[in-house]
Amino acid sequence: MEPIVRAVNLHKVYNSGSVQVHALRGVDLEIPRGEIVAIMGPSGCGKTTLLNCLSGLDDVTEGEVYVDGVRLTDLGDDRRSEYRARRMGFVFQSYNLLPVLTGRENVELPLIVAGVPYRQAREVAIRMLDLVDLKPFADHKPAELSAGQQQRVAIARALVNKPGIVWADEPTGNLDSDTSAQIMDLLVRLNRENGQTFVVVTHDVGVADWAHRILKMRNGQIVEQIRAG
Ligand SMILES: Nc1ncnc2c1ncn2[C@@H]1O[C@H](COP(=O)(O)OP(=O)(O)OP(=O)(O)O)[C@@H](O)[C@H]1O
Ligand SMILES: [Mg+2]
Repeated sequence: MEPIVRAVNLHKVYNSGSVQVHALRGVDLEIPRGEIVAIMGPSGCGKTTLLNCLSGLDDVTEGEVYVDGVRLTDLGDDRRSEYRARRMGFVFQSYNLLPVLTGRENVELPLIVAGVPYRQAREVAIRMLDLVDLKPFADHKPAELSAGQQQRVAIARALVNKPGIVWADEPTGNLDSDTSAQIMDLLVRLNRENGQTFVVVTHDVGVADWAHRILKMRNGQIVEQIRAG
C-alpha cells in the first residue's frame, strides 16, 4: 500500500538576515497509513521544521513531499490550505485555542469551516469533548481550564473531523506524567479505532509504549530508526 506520507531528499534553509540555517539536510522518509511515528532529538535539530515541511505549513527549499500520493508543491497556497483543513489535524504545544470561544466552540470551528451545518457540528463537537473526558467543561473558555484540559480541547479540535493524518508537536510538553500518559492512551485508542496516522514530536521517555516507530534526528537528519511496540 502507498505510504500516506513520503518525503524525498528534503532540505530546508532558513535565511534570517545575514545568517543561513540549514535546518533539514536531506531527509528521506516514508510513513505507512495508520502508523504512530515519534520524532525525537535535541533542541534545534529540526523536528518542528520537519513537521511543518511534511504538512505543507512551510515550503521546502529542495526535495519533494507527497501526502496521500499528492505532491504538496503542486498545490497552490489556497488548495494546500484547503487540503490541510480537510485531511490533516494539528496539535501544538501552545494550544492555539481561541480565547473568546468556549471549548465546545473551539472544537466546532474546523467542522463549521468544512461546511458542516451548525446543529450537527455542535453534536459532533460535544461527542468529541466527551471522548477526551471534558463534556462537563464544554462551556468553559480556555482561561477557565487547566493546562491538561486545554491540551485535551486542542486534541479534540485536531481530531474532530477525523483527519487521516495528525501532526503533533510536543502535545504533552506542558503536562504532568499522568496527564501525558492519558493523552497518549487517547491517541493510541483513536489510532486503533479510526486508523489515523499520527506523527508526534516528543521528549517522552515512555515513547516506546505508544509509538510504532521512533525516528531520531540530529542536525537536520534522521540518524536512527527504532521499531517499537
Ligand atoms: N523561522 C525560522 N527562521 C530562522 N531559523 C529558524 C526558523 N525556525 C527554525 N529555525 C532554525 O532551524 C533549526 C531547527 O529548528 P526547529 O524549530 O525545527 O528545532 P526543533 O528540533 O523543533 O527544536 P525544539 O526541540 O527546541 O523545539 C534551529 O537552528 C532554528 O534556530
Ligand atoms: Mg520544536
